[in-house]
Amino acid sequence: MALLCLALLVAICPMCAGETGAEGWLRHNDLTTGSLPTLVAAVGSSNVVRTAANELVHALGNRPKAEGVAAQLPAKDAFVLGTWKDILALFPDLPAARLPAGDGFWLRTVRSHGAKYWLVIGRTDRGVLYGTFSLLARIAQQKDVTTLEDVQTPSAPIRWVSEWDNLDGSIERGYAGRSIFFDNGAVRADLTRVAQYGRLLASIEINGCAINNVNASPRIVAPEFIPQLARIADAFRPWGIKLAVSVDMSSPMVVGGLKTFDPLDPQVAAWWQRTADEIYKQIPDFGGFVVKADSEGRSGPSQYGRTASDAANVIARALKPHHGILMYRAFVYNHHLDWRDMKADRARAAYDYFHPLDGKFEDNVVIQIKYGPIDFQVREPASPLFGAMPNTSQAIELQVTQEYTGQQRHLVFLAPMWKEILDFDMHVNGVSAVKQIVTGKTWRRPLGGFNAVVNVGLDENWLAHPLAMANLYGYGRLAWNPNLSAEVISEEWARLTFGNNPQVVLTISKMLLSSWHIYESYTGPLGAGTLTDILGDHYGPGVESSERNGWGQWHRADEHGMGMDRTVATGTGFIGQYSPEVQKKYETLAACPDELLLFMHHVPYTYVLHSGKTVIQHIYDSHYDGAEQAAELVTQWQSVKGQIDDERYEDVLKRLRYQAGHAIVWRDAVVNWFFKTSGIRDEKGRVQAGSVWGQPPSAVLSSAARQ
Ligand code: GCU
Repeated sequence: MALLCLALLVAICPMCAGETGAEGWLRHNDLTTGSLPTLVAAVGSSNVVRTAANELVHALGNRPKAEGVAAQLPAKDAFVLGTWKDILALFPDLPAARLPAGDGFWLRTVRSHGAKYWLVIGRTDRGVLYGTFSLLARIAQQKDVTTLEDVQTPSAPIRWVSEWDNLDGSIERGYAGRSIFFDNGAVRADLTRVAQYGRLLASIEINGCAINNVNASPRIVAPEFIPQLARIADAFRPWGIKLAVSVDMSSPMVVGGLKTFDPLDPQVAAWWQRTADEIYKQIPDFGGFVVKADSEGRSGPSQYGRTASDAANVIARALKPHHGILMYRAFVYNHHLDWRDMKADRARAAYDYFHPLDGKFEDNVVIQIKYGPIDFQVREPASPLFGAMPNTSQAIELQVTQEYTGQQRHLVFLAPMWKEILDFDMHVNGVSAVKQIVTGKTWRRPLGGFNAVVNVGLDENWLAHPLAMANLYGYGRLAWNPNLSAEVISEEWARLTFGNNPQVVLTISKMLLSSWHIYESYTGPLGAGTLTDILGDHYGPGVESSERNGWGQWHRADEHGMGMDRTVATGTGFIGQYSPEVQKKYETLAACPDELLLFMHHVPYTYVLHSGKTVIQHIYDSHYDGAEQAAELVTQWQSVKGQIDDERYEDVLKRLRYQAGHAIVWRDAVVNWFFKTSGIRDEKGRVQAGSVWGQPPSAVLSSAARQ
């Protein structure tokens, strides 16, 4: 007989916690239960299933009166949680055909012996946890759960997040405080926040977390560090999160004391094997490694004349006996390109380097590809590499941390952008949206999925801007099911985070859904890139910073025109990296969509877009419209005053006011630069030489903040 742990629910006074944002979208500690049972039965001995049961008990605003092991099903209505084998022993009539694959779940109500049971079934214990969170989310959104029959299967096995935390506690491109994992060269003594983060991640079905910067310190896998990593894995384990780390290719030398890190050297292979064995001895459910090599000054196989597959395979072979995964990043490019060479093109790099290696990787290697060919810009086309590796597993890399998209000081809900990329048809092997390729479906790959850079910090609300958490939520939901719409996700998140008041939900969803386009309008037009300061903090306007240097984020704006000619006919040939059908979309000016025009073509400012506007007038208009719409976000938010808690209301209001001011700074810097450079007047007469420079940006910002 399966073990049953029973937890009786008795009503207690719900805690009226202050709204700090610490709970994220998991604010359900007093859900109205109506006719739902007051008994939770966890079947089996899994700790993850036990976690699920506790979550249910506490979310329903109750505290277990009695806990213990029962020999049989409770005779009255109950939630019953367990993995398939344990549940089947209690409900032998369940149809096995309905059982989901992977970490999927099955929610089903059944009647038996005069009682009604709400079954939460997983093939794995993670599935039980995900099913429980899904059930809770429905109750929190006031959906009817009196009768349930729902089977859900994850889109892909890899649903990871990455944190770019350094061992000293700082975070590269992190905007919400210091690391929850590290401080002063070691793992923190208090890992409470790590466990809380595990809970948030599990509730959006994330199953892995790579905890350190891709610009990795080799020390992360030093023998004395592994026991510290084991403590983090312990904090994650109840939530079904596998620990992963980023490793540096030179580790065999720096940590192992070898004279080389040549991936083909047998001593190097032996070192990786010993290291992997030691990690798995202490962390049996370790997820694997992420590797950034030969990129932005990092060490890599090219130092020995070896390839990415040589490098990936030596590490992958060490992980293989333990079922570990190697995520090898395709973000490999030369950052000393010659800007005078009109054929040089950073966008080509990932394809040029990895496409010839297709099929040469071990089967536990996954090539992790940024969504666009440059670097997390406000708009890019889908990376052509997605369509070019039929014999290699892939994952898409996204960014929740808003490096180029306003650094959590601007509201930018990224799910609509991610959806455009995920839904983009690469026209390979028939109809193949990026989401079908990266989840392994197009080419029937054993592995595949998602990894997003999140960079939560010690700030109580994790990401600094309360509304930025919609991006983390949206990422998890899309990794689970990339067919969900941005509209559905934004509404779910607004309900879970701010309650079910229809006006609040509508207002917040509308703000979220318009925000990416607004930010794009006052920053980087027509696919030119974010036009930010690419040499420094990637924040605020810096039109010229991309030019005349080796980084290759050029938009080649001069007095005549703008844009990168990436055509096959006259340009860098980048467009030729796509399938013939996609090439047709981009190669000619007639076909190329306006929003990617300057990514694909160099045109004069007087070129007329499909919209009927000239390029220069579009730049002027979009920046004025964008700044105006940023100001409207403030007004929209003010309409929810008094209908949500004051803490989060005031916090968001302050940030939106700042954003409205900064949008003016952006607008004026960009339109003035283009006016000065092109000499072409704004037909609406708004742009006048020198107008903005009369007052410093800080004055514009503070006057906006006073509005
Ligand atoms: C961007 C980012 C870097 C990061 C790099 C990467 O360039 O600015 O901080 O290291 O991406 O993804 O490796």
